[in-house]
Amino acid sequence: MPFILRKALKESNQLGMVLAFGQLSVLEICSVFHGAALKAETPCERVAVLQTDRQITDDLGRIAGIHKCAPLTMAEGGGPADAREFVEVLCRYLEEKSNFAVSGYGLDATEYEALVRVLLDGIRDAGLRKVRLLRPRNNELLSEDILKREALDVMAFPYHDGIALGPTAWVPDSTSMRSRGVGRPVPRSEISLSPRLARTLINLAGLQSGEALLDPFCGSGTILAEAFTESLYCIGFDSSAARVHETVRNLRWLGALEGTSFHVRKGDARDLKRSLRGSKVDGVVTEPVLLPAFEARPKTATAEELVNNAGEVYSRALDSMADSVRRGGRIVVVVPVIQTMDGEEVVLSLDARDLGLRLYQPGPVGFEYPVRLSFETTRWVRRAVYVFESPL
Ligand SMILES: C[S@@+](CC[C@H](N)C(=O)[O-])C[C@H]1O[C@@H](n2cnc3c(N)ncnc32)[C@H](O)[C@@H]1O
Repeated sequence: MPFILRKALKESNQLGMVLAFGQLSVLEICSVFHGAALKAETPCERVAVLQTDRQITDDLGRIAGIHKCAPLTMAEGGGPADAREFVEVLCRYLEEKSNFAVSGYGLDATEYEALVRVLLDGIRDAGLRKVRLLRPRNNELLSEDILKREALDVMAFPYHDGIALGPTAWVPDSTSMRSRGVGRPVPRSEISLSPRLARTLINLAGLQSGEALLDPFCGSGTILAEAFTESLYCIGFDSSAARVHETVRNLRWLGALEGTSFHVRKGDARDLKRSLRGSKVDGVVTEPVLLPAFEARPKTATAEELVNNAGEVYSRALDSMADSVRRGGRIVVVVPVIQTMDGEEVVLSLDARDLGLRLYQPGPVGFEYPVRLSFETTRWVRRAVYVFESPL
């Protein structure tokens, strides 16, 4: 896992994280660091700040829904450090001829340029005259480029009346996630979510290796493939025999063995008791129905009709999933949110109180369900996610 400045991460318990999926990523962060997270804030749309009570470096490698993580340099009063003070921190990691970049989030062009100037002047004044400034597109050096260019990247964003600064110390291993998505025998990108999103959802299920994860609408098996790479036992059903065959091919391509690491069959998600022969699973992660990709925003009435039709499958399947998950197990379900031409949002809402499930709240902030994903859209249909928990 690419730790760039592992030591720097150990020096701060305030971490800045660039979010891949907005609020959903914050939920994943709170879920993975459950217990260690004291505070989670989102000072701008793309960034979260997590305050922890202990070292979380080892768990960081499990997070899928962030693009980078930086330990923040704070001033004594708790606010962000002044850029000049930060130069001192930076110089610890820079060498003559290092590549250097500033990634600004939620900063306007003037603030960004002024910051780059102060940092660069400070670095040069400190005697590092040959440090090379990279000028990334949209003022953001992407995580792949940080690795490719071996650059020291500074994350900068507005925070508590100042600008928070931190050196990017960790980025996720996105190359292998991407190659699993495009390289598999049956990619089926038109119905599949990305491996990164699948892994984020799996993290929300909070399973231990060897436990059984069920996707009762498995499609071509993106969720199960990521579950297999996380050492979970994969159970999948789909009403289409063709999709079942595709999932099996995709899992075998990863080296998964029928019986030992997966069980995938034709089956109806609304009747899991029959498919599972009464046995229970440890967690469920699924995306049941993909609505059509609209050419233009639909009318509210059209969106409502689509959502109502899909709602029937969802509620019957949720009933069946609630029955099939063990006590304390979680059910992670993706629902569609349609943006209409009347400027409204039509959401597929689920209510599972009658099924004895509660909404998962890992703390330290409360999440409003369904939790929206930002930055991932399929033509006016957005995704949102419910995480239900069966009581112990
Ligand atoms: C949105 S796709 C799932 C895609 C999957 N997450 C992937 O990445 O490949 C939904 C799948 O549910 C299946 N399906 C629809 N109704 C079903 C039902 N009642 N029971 C089981 N599968 C069903 C469809 O055949 C389709 O493959």
